[in-house]
Amino acid sequence: MLALKMCVVFFSVLILTLSQLSEATQISSNSVLVALLDSRYTELSELVEKALLLQTLEKAVADHNITIFAPRNEALERELDSEFKRFLLEPRNLRSLQTLVLHHIVPSRLGRIEWPAESTRHTTLSTEPLHLSSLDTVKLAGNAEVVRLDDVFRPDGIIHGINRLLIPKSVQQDFNNRRSLRAISAVKPEGAPEVDPRTNRLKKPAPSVPAGSPPVLPIYYAMAPGPSLAPAPAPGPGGPRHHFDGESQVKDFIHTLLHYGGYNEMADILVNLTNLATEMGKLVSEGYVLTVLAPNDEALAKLTTDQLAEPGAPERIMYYHIIPEYQTEESMYNAVRRFGKIRYDTLHVPHKMLAQEADGSVKFGDDEETAYLFDPDIYIDGRISVQGIDGVLFPGSEKTESKKPEVIGSVDRVQTRPKSRRGKLLEGMYKDLKGYVKKHFSKSKLSNK
Ligand SMILES: *[C@@H]1O[C@H](CO)[C@@H](O)[C@H](O)[C@H]1NC(C)=O
Ligand SMILES: *[C@@H]1O[C@H](CO)[C@@H](O)[C@H](O)[C@H]1NC(C)=O
Repeated sequence: MLALKMCVVFFSVLILTLSQLSEATQISSNSVLVALLDSRYTELSELVEKALLLQTLEKAVADHNITIFAPRNEALERELDSEFKRFLLEPRNLRSLQTLVLHHIVPSRLGRIEWPAESTRHTTLSTEPLHLSSLDTVKLAGNAEVVRLDDVFRPDGIIHGINRLLIPKSVQQDFNNRRSLRAISAVKPEGAPEVDPRTNRLKKPAPSVPAGSPPVLPIYYAMAPGPSLAPAPAPGPGGPRHHFDGESQVKDFIHTLLHYGGYNEMADILVNLTNLATEMGKLVSEGYVLTVLAPNDEALAKLTTDQLAEPGAPERIMYYHIIPEYQTEESMYNAVRRFGKIRYDTLHVPHKMLAQEADGSVKFGDDEETAYLFDPDIYIDGRISVQGIDGVLFPGSEKTESKKPEVIGSVDRVQTRPKSRRGKLLEGMYKDLKGYVKKHFSKSKLSNK
């Protein structure tokens, strides 16, 4: 009797699901979508339904082939942090759940045959990118390993089994913003850098990853109640009445860097160079926009003390990493894709920063010093953009464009002065930053992006 009842319940669920499927467009029974609901990936299927995404996906397969990266059930059952799972299933977080599910689907056919030879970036249905790559015989989708290649093969799509859930950054951020608990990570990715919760620093250096490979999900991305990671409301058009609170925006991005993980050194430098941070804040208050290329801890750790000991060196390095434009990862990637190579102005006039497309990402610098855009859009608020890079860049000497390099204040002279005068001279240098930026960059040029 009970078995019969269960059967009835089961079939009515099935019928409901199938009728949901065929509501909008007629879907072929041979569709990859039908195959998914009938596959071993029951946990993912369940999430697709809970996310109310059947119709969306139906439309997707009507228009083009899709590739589904399906986490094996264990990845969603046992290996997912229960708090994160609860978050996903809360009705008010439906958006996050939808983004998460759509992040597992690429709107094109990417089977064994089509799999890219080199690391390439694909836009998922969540609109956030997913990098596909190969390491020897292993195929990787983001930071997940493909464990069942071409597991389900249908005329309108393919399902690959993967070993873990793919968590898009925006969902991780939503989760961080919502939670109030400390020191628990959403997912424990294997091989992710381990963090000492007391110091918030890496216990040991993160394993090195081949350049251009997808970023490892930083484990303490999810640690500590997040600062306001969500982008500030988009600023309205500038005007006499409009005032941007640049200082708190700068503070906000430094906090974001600290909490993001892997950028402690950079945050430290910005905190230590309080004048720099203050001046950046003033510039933003005045309506200027900035893109900061932030080298990660590993990159900064490679700097020699010689390179840093030179008076004014940290400041000059910082200036070279600041572009007086508002650029997101997407805008830079699109630009280098379209034009091949782009030179951005930096605050270290007249030195420019070369950017080009490489391995499905943006590569900065030329000659031997290069860095990849490694952690995109760590902070973007419409005025300040912070992009994580995996190297420290120096202007090439041949790129000084024959003019005598014009350096902020009198840094060149500073170098030869006795150390005792350094602080005073640096003060002057920062007092002058506003005038300096005004002289070299017009505001309209800066903020017309
Ligand atoms: C899906 O891919 C197959 C094989 O490449 C192709 O024959 C078919 O036309 C594609 N379907 C759509 C809707 O693009
Ligand atoms: C910042 O200042 C603190 C305290 O003076 C110092 O210990 C630390 O090394 C400095 N960090 C950097 C990156 O200069």
